[in-house]
Amino acid sequence: MTSPMPLPSRRLRSLLFRPLRTLPRRPGRVPTGGRRAGFAGLFALLVLVGPGQGVAQVSAAEHAERRTALAADLGDGLLLALGSAAPPQDYIPFHQNSLFRYLTGFTEPDAALVMVVEGAEHHAFLFVNPRDPGRETWEGIRMGPERSLDVTGIPGRSVAELPGVVDSLLARHAELRVVGPYQPAASVQNDVTQRVLQLTHNHPDVSVRTVNARVNELRAIKSAAELELIRRSVALTVEAHREVAAHLAPGRNEFEIQAVLEGTFRRYGAERPAFASIVGSGPNATILHYNANDRFMEDGDMVVVDIGASYGGYAADVTRSYPVNGQFSPEQRAIYQLVRDAQAAAEAMAGPGVSMGAMNAEASRVLAEGLAALGLMEAADATFETAAGTRAPQLQLYYMHGLGHGIGLDVHDPAPNPLAPGAVISIEPGLYVRPNLLTEVVADTPANRAMIEAIRPAFQRFVGIGVRIEDDYVVTVGGVEWISPAPREIHEIEEALARPRAGTDRNSEWVEWYRRMR
Ligand code: GLY
Ligand code: MN
Ligand code: MN
Repeated sequence: MTSPMPLPSRRLRSLLFRPLRTLPRRPGRVPTGGRRAGFAGLFALLVLVGPGQGVAQVSAAEHAERRTALAADLGDGLLLALGSAAPPQDYIPFHQNSLFRYLTGFTEPDAALVMVVEGAEHHAFLFVNPRDPGRETWEGIRMGPERSLDVTGIPGRSVAELPGVVDSLLARHAELRVVGPYQPAASVQNDVTQRVLQLTHNHPDVSVRTVNARVNELRAIKSAAELELIRRSVALTVEAHREVAAHLAPGRNEFEIQAVLEGTFRRYGAERPAFASIVGSGPNATILHYNANDRFMEDGDMVVVDIGASYGGYAADVTRSYPVNGQFSPEQRAIYQLVRDAQAAAEAMAGPGVSMGAMNAEASRVLAEGLAALGLMEAADATFETAAGTRAPQLQLYYMHGLGHGIGLDVHDPAPNPLAPGAVISIEPGLYVRPNLLTEVVADTPANRAMIEAIRPAFQRFVGIGVRIEDDYVVTVGGVEWISPAPREIHEIEEALARPRAGTDRNSEWVEWYRRMR
């Protein structure tokens, strides 16, 4: 047994409660519109991100406010927040889990935050990897406990001390509140779960419970600094869509488009895509989270491009669906307009006090009426028999995902329900006419046969078309603000695609070789 954790000394208290410095601004470039963005793109970017400043960061003071709010919410007790472990190989990028990042802003591996709440006070300690010139040769300079105090405002200790400190604190607390992806019941236990189990091993009587839900309530409403980072991330993603439109052409591969858009992210300082970029053409447009991105696009295809930068840790999530040859066919136009009408209907009612469920019901009504008019459903309220023998709306054959979600540190971030000012959400209806719909998806049962025959002619007209339109919004006092103004209406998309296409600087010999190898 190690000695109990001492209460913070006067020196530490004074450090804890001194005015907190803000984090230094990270050097970085802001979007300037790009060589090919054109005047409209440049203007939109300048309006969205403002003229050239460095990448803003959420300040140490704001992280401290978050911890104070959580402490006030939870009351007396012991809290342990765990950062993510270093990847097994140091050549894999490290990514901090969002719960830990939200409370600390600390983005090095293996860290832990211990908070003791006592009455009106709380004491926070950050446990971090100590300086180690040997490891730093491979991984880069660590902050160590000393510098971590400077940048986070939390007194730092070596992570080697964590087990002893937790052990002594658990001797005095009946409950441990955990923040992080702690999932002891999961069949494969993640790094955070393993660490909690190790740290609590000697204290079987201590009850361990996550308080992630409380942290997520705080995360659901974004601060001014968070909103700025999200706006920039979204502006970058809009810029990437302009580049996509400038490069789409039959004969090009999905991965060439991925390269262009992810290159745009990096050129403007985004650290990574917030999720696997989706460039799904032809039949791939009907696969919701397709990300193989290795098909050569053909004349007549639609391509769904669902992408988002991560900038300063904050995600964007913007989808556009393009006709690869630059012009919508009548069938593509009909499906596209229907999805756009559904999005507009949801967008028009979005605002404080409105639930995503109510918005989805309205979007679904628009989609169902339109699909019935096109002959893809027997009627707007028609149902079919599922494989489980239950009945479900025929709309689910074409629209099988949610209408949207919160956006923040995670691309699927917490959002208040009903919505409230300061939330950031996506609205993303879609329709997908899967080629195997009538042969594999719908069970060939007597109950379904009449429907299959009724919708077959329309299905054959629209088969293979996939359209999703996704935009990002800040919820305001009076409604929502649209923050992802990439070309969206049919005429705007056709205009964007009518501009001269840029070359992809590809090596055509290599492309021919790639085609032959497939
Ligand atoms: N890009 C994932 C989603 O739209 O939710
Ligand atoms: Mn989304
Ligand atoms: Mn998306």
